[in-house]
Amino acid sequence: MTQDELKTLVGQAALQYVTPDTVVGVGTGSTVDKFIDALAASGMRIAGAVSSSVRSTERMKALGIPVLDASEVESLQVYIDGADEIDRQGHMVKGGGAALTREKIVADLAKTFVCIADESKLVDVLGAFPVPVEVIPMAAAQIARRFRAMGAEPVLRKDCVTDNSCHILDVKGLRITDPAAFEAEVSQWPGVVTVGVFARNKAGVCLLGTAQGVRTMT
Ligand code: A5P
Repeated sequence: MTQDELKTLVGQAALQYVTPDTVVGVGTGSTVDKFIDALAASGMRIAGAVSSSVRSTERMKALGIPVLDASEVESLQVYIDGADEIDRQGHMVKGGGAALTREKIVADLAKTFVCIADESKLVDVLGAFPVPVEVIPMAAAQIARRFRAMGAEPVLRKDCVTDNSCHILDVKGLRITDPAAFEAEVSQWPGVVTVGVFARNKAGVCLLGTAQGVRTMT
């Protein structure tokens, strides 16, 4: 199976976590696009979706899925999103599509994060994928210096302004053995908007697309 077919498989499998007539949290990325398409094609009626990006909002609206503002809901049963990396405990690196801040906000509203990913995303230790960190532009140089002092290599993402008018540093050379401690530490640096390590809001379920079919990790 191609990577695209694996994404389609897990996008469809995620439908089993959606309860009709409820509001669903929807992430961002090429795998989530498959989920959005499967949801629209299923004909299942939902009360609406809280979206994590302009990209997903536009796709859902085009397919007739009602989109609600995050402020209109108190909580969500599920949040469905992809990942750039996921470990066996459900910790993730996210933000390859620059939507990490809204993704963390919507994930935090949800009781369960259902991660959908092809098997190439499963890792033993997070950090081989450069960790995206959304920053307030005036703080970028200082935050980059802090990462360099840790022995890492931050790179300012070219031509990227996020949905929140901020910038992204992609941080190479990390080996994150304690994702919760890393997330807590970097999150409190002045000027950091969101670090793309999801430990506090880790996945409760991961639907992994493999050549043998969908593997469910909990
Ligand atoms: C978006 O900012 C990211 O967090 C995505 O969820 C992540 O990059 C996975 O994207 P794909 O499904 O396109 O691999």
